[in-house]
Amino acid sequence: MSNYHIKHLEEYFKVYRKSIREPENFWEEIAEEHFLWRKQWDKVLDWDFSKPEIKWFQGAKLNITENCIDRHLATRGDKTAILFEPNDPAEPAEHITYQQLHERVNQFANVLKEHGVKKGDRVCIYVPMIPELAISLLACARIGAIHSVVFAGFSSTALATRINDSDCKMVITADGSFRGKKSIDLKGIVDEALESCPGVENVLVAKRTHADINMKEGRDTWLQPLLDNASKECKAEIMDAEDPLFILYTSGSTGKPKGMVHTTAGYMVYTAYTFKNAFQYRENDVYWCTADIGWITGHSYIVYGPLANGATTVLFEGVPSYPDFGRFWDIIEKHKVSQFYTAPTAIRALAKHGTALIDKYNLSSLKVLGSVGEPINEEAWHWYNDNVGKGRSPIIDSWWQTETGGIMITPIPYVTPTKPTYATLPFIGIQPAIMDENGEELKGNQVEGRLCIKYPWPSIARTIWGNHERYKETYFSAFDNMYFTGDGALRDEVGYYRITGRVDDVIIVSGHNLGTAPIEDAINEHPAIAESAIVGFPHDIKGSALYGYITLKDAGEYRDHNNLQKEINQLITDRIGPIAKLDKIQFTEGLPKTRSGKIMRRILRKIACNEMDNLGDTSTLLNPEIVQIIIDNRL
Ligand code: WTA
Repeated sequence: MSNYHIKHLEEYFKVYRKSIREPENFWEEIAEEHFLWRKQWDKVLDWDFSKPEIKWFQGAKLNITENCIDRHLATRGDKTAILFEPNDPAEPAEHITYQQLHERVNQFANVLKEHGVKKGDRVCIYVPMIPELAISLLACARIGAIHSVVFAGFSSTALATRINDSDCKMVITADGSFRGKKSIDLKGIVDEALESCPGVENVLVAKRTHADINMKEGRDTWLQPLLDNASKECKAEIMDAEDPLFILYTSGSTGKPKGMVHTTAGYMVYTAYTFKNAFQYRENDVYWCTADIGWITGHSYIVYGPLANGATTVLFEGVPSYPDFGRFWDIIEKHKVSQFYTAPTAIRALAKHGTALIDKYNLSSLKVLGSVGEPINEEAWHWYNDNVGKGRSPIIDSWWQTETGGIMITPIPYVTPTKPTYATLPFIGIQPAIMDENGEELKGNQVEGRLCIKYPWPSIARTIWGNHERYKETYFSAFDNMYFTGDGALRDEVGYYRITGRVDDVIIVSGHNLGTAPIEDAINEHPAIAESAIVGFPHDIKGSALYGYITLKDAGEYRDHNNLQKEINQLITDRIGPIAKLDKIQFTEGLPKTRSGKIMRRILRKIACNEMDNLGDTSTLLNPEIVQIIIDNRL
């Protein structure tokens, strides 16, 4: 029993050692004691990183919603499962108890069934942060359908690509969404996307903004009347441990987005166990993660991890700036939030507004602060620690990825001493390795290199939907027999890890992963543009922002660069979404290229970051003279 909840540092080291020496026994005990299984597994783990193939708890049967809902009913039926805080603070918060969640998920599951959704079918969910979002994930899981949530800030083109990639037959959406003062026409975006998605048979529409929208006869149905008529009982589909639970897309450095596939049992065990420990969740705590369920953080640490522990999880519809920059603190006071999990970009944006707004609120309920999504800089760390946590609430700087399913490197609050900007120690069961460029592991402390993981953990993504070869190529071919994260890291003198950032062409802007290739593809669609290269540069709120170097087909013809800049950002907004807009656009007569014609992004990145003193040798370029020209015209 004791291994489930770690309470002090010696215990962490003891349990960690056990999880490394006897991983199968370790995870078997955790799985056996803390979850509801319809049938035991035959084998705890089967793995081969060279194929790659990873299977946890093979032969076991279960349904994750029985673990997240049904089994709590006897003791926690009247406890709030989901605490919904609407965009408008004047609208009352909604407390959805475990009993009510059970009924609502079952009703929703029955509606899906009535619309022909079966086990293994893919359902796309494009819903704002309202209760129906969480409920729709669980309803899919109830009947064994595979959910594919697309963040409701993506454009219609991005949505269509994702729907088609995984052949979704249904889309769940809403009439619109509220974001601060704005409301967004989500249904219009869906309609546009579906013009190029012939496989979608049904669209279920939740009512939120009451906007006057178009409902396509025979395809679109309002959700609420269906729910009202549906039975509150729905038997959970019994799933195999390795049946897919969901697909979630993440950007790669090249090509189209990767549909990461997570399976049922391992994902459940790992997200539940990490939630309990990384947040030190105790009964009656109110836990709040500010991420959107459209990202992995929301899947694992708003929905599945908290509910598997019978926790109360806050679902916030709005934005940190509405009605003013005190909204987060208002919500913490109002709901007596104990664990608060947010992103460095939000912290930096809030820090800009000083502490007067914080001082208005009573934040004494806070016990744990969390950070995720990108490296947290020293200044933001201290601001968060001093002003939000008042030096009393440890900050867990948690490193992980869509692909890892759950938190991988993190302090355990009140257990691991924290250190600003360090994710500190690997979580139980995680075996990180730092590798040099020749593929050698750098052993010992005070080393820096590429971050890999040596051994499987239960919630590692099993494949990329429809493209196992790409999964192998991206994650298992850079280093022998290791999972490669794409991040750089260092290990300090006591063995603490610090994540130094991406080492590939993924740029993290305000915590959102963006691949450079799809942005360049969008820009290159513009008839006036010949070529483009996108790099990241430091930004005091977003962490990184995008800098685009662009060459025109006929520079003479397009003198109105202002308009062109607008058109470029509009194209990006249409193809990907506003999050991928460029902050700086430099028109240039050429891009530095190797003799084989490859754009030298490394040089462009250094120029954008104002690091001109170490550009390296540029003399072997095809066009070395262009470097100085670009520097001279730098923005
Ligand atoms: C970055 C988010 C530094 C990292 C859960 C990773 C971080 C990518 C941290 C995954 C952190 C996430 N410190 N960097 N605490 N957390 N990252 O897939 O580069 O949206 O590879 O998953 O975010 O982003 P993703």
